[in-house]
Amino acid sequence: MFFPAYRSRRIRGREVFRRMVRETSLSVNDLVYPMFAAFGRCVRKEVSSMPCIYQQSVDNIVAEAQEVHELGIPAVILFGIPESKDPLGSSAFDEKGVIQETVRELKRKVPGLAVITDVCMCEYTSHGHCGVVKDGDVDNDATLELLCREALSHAAAGADMVAPSDMMDGRVQAIREALDANGFADIPIMSYAVKYASGYYGPFREAAESAPQFGDRRSYQMDPANRLEAIREAAMDVEEGADIIMVKPGLPYLDIVREVRNEFNLPVAVYNVSGEYSMVKAAAKNGWIDEERVVMETMIAFKRAGADLILTYHAKDVARILKRG
Ligand code: PBG
Ligand code: ZN
Repeated sequence: MFFPAYRSRRIRGREVFRRMVRETSLSVNDLVYPMFAAFGRCVRKEVSSMPCIYQQSVDNIVAEAQEVHELGIPAVILFGIPESKDPLGSSAFDEKGVIQETVRELKRKVPGLAVITDVCMCEYTSHGHCGVVKDGDVDNDATLELLCREALSHAAAGADMVAPSDMMDGRVQAIREALDANGFADIPIMSYAVKYASGYYGPFREAAESAPQFGDRRSYQMDPANRLEAIREAAMDVEEGADIIMVKPGLPYLDIVREVRNEFNLPVAVYNVSGEYSMVKAAAKNGWIDEERVVMETMIAFKRAGADLILTYHAKDVARILKRG
């Protein structure tokens, strides 16, 4: 490949050639849209740090889910903002809880849309940690039982898939066993297998009202400096029965997405998290970047890194852009 016999610009010079040699593609089928389910009726409150993203009651969730479905996006992932919180997060597995009611209504009104539920305790606990707190830290094994109850109640409400995001050890196995033992052997688990303790979750914690009231999540979420540990984490979840493994956040961890893709023969998802979204929105609002261009470049970067699925707050915009061509 030496100049002048080879000129790389030859194949780059015309759009039709660029199309022919493009290595990576993005489809609406790759997208999952996150939504925040709030208690009550007629609630539609924009998250101040996440323009165009709302906390919504079930009536408005259903309306937006209809739009998501019509755009061809296959799935949403739901986060709940409960009416009340307590130290054990008991509203997480309340049959009449906000997620349970929302799932039931969504499956009734928009049956063609897959509903994934985030399984974690932090939205439901008064202290905001992802499990049971004992002696100032989250107790792993005591938390597993609550996560199982939560996952089971989501499945009973009609969730199509559950997505544990707590980072407790052994939770995929515990949830898999609980689902199998209760008639939900066909419900897949998308595990947040590789989840870093990240500053990029900041806006989400406003959206889900789930910020820890003391300390941080470093005793259960991963250290951003670690790469080999990501492979160990993913390997555990694969062994325990995960059906899809996720890496989170997205853009700062594209190297990890690639490693996980190369190492495991399972679908890989990437979560383009709230802080990544807010930064793009803020810069675009200031006229500093071309939002559409940056968003599409970000999506193709995830695909190039090896992701099969992308959880993103940009999903509706991306679907519209893809449709328009
Ligand atoms: C709950 C959870 C979080 C996110 C998804 N599930 C926040 C956290 O762990 O603090 C982050 C999503 C985002 O930032 O968009 N454990
Ligand atoms: Zn959590």
